Amino acid sequence: MKFFVDTGDFKEIEELSDTGLLDGVTTNPSLVAKSGRDFKELIADICKVVAGPVSAEVAATDFDGMMREGERLAKIADNVVVKVPLTFDGLKACRHLSSAGIPVNVTLCFSPNQALLAAKVGAAYISPFVGRLDDINLEGMELIQNIRTIYDNYAFSTEILAASIRSPNHVTQAALAGADVATIPPAVIRKLADHPLTTVGLANFVKDWKATGQSIL
Ligand code: E4P
Repeated sequence: MKFFVDTGDFKEIEELSDTGLLDGVTTNPSLVAKSGRDFKELIADICKVVAGPVSAEVAATDFDGMMREGERLAKIADNVVVKVPLTFDGLKACRHLSSAGIPVNVTLCFSPNQALLAAKVGAAYISPFVGRLDDINLEGMELIQNIRTIYDNYAFSTEILAASIRSPNHVTQAALAGADVATIPPAVIRKLADHPLTTVGLANFVKDWKATGQSIL
């Protein structure tokens, strides 16, 4: 499963990119607002440090506006993926942008039917929001499983990008469900390396090594 980081925090992206764990980046208007940065400059900066796909979301909600903004965003760098909302206008924009060779991430997906539509219009990625479904007491991960089954039934090449990931357990469940990608907040990516037995085990190794009085160098 590929790892994208879900953030508009450039410093975090730079640091995580250095670990070799990052395959791409997703942003959304709320994350850009939180960053306080100029949107197009931020996307340009991210594309300089991450070679993989970088999702940049349109702000318009009508077809013509999404097309104009999508074409503008795609010009920022070769690895920009244009993100559009899962509405009828968004699906139409997805079809037109994809036909023009611009990869599209269809976002705000909350049902298997929505995911089916996105695949039919040639989306490069579909973003089902797991955490937001959990928030309203539904089973977010079931959506990933259902989309996986539908896409496999018809050999759709649209990648399932598990979004609204809130915990390490979501990452495990998304991988078990066969998501192609998980877009994960930086804090959750860092937590993936944690295990209490690793912490205790390392503390013991450090203590025992000190007691030997040796040095490797
Ligand atoms: C996906 O692309 C979205 O940016 C994101 O995963 C939304 O997550 P949230 O529900 O935690 O805001």
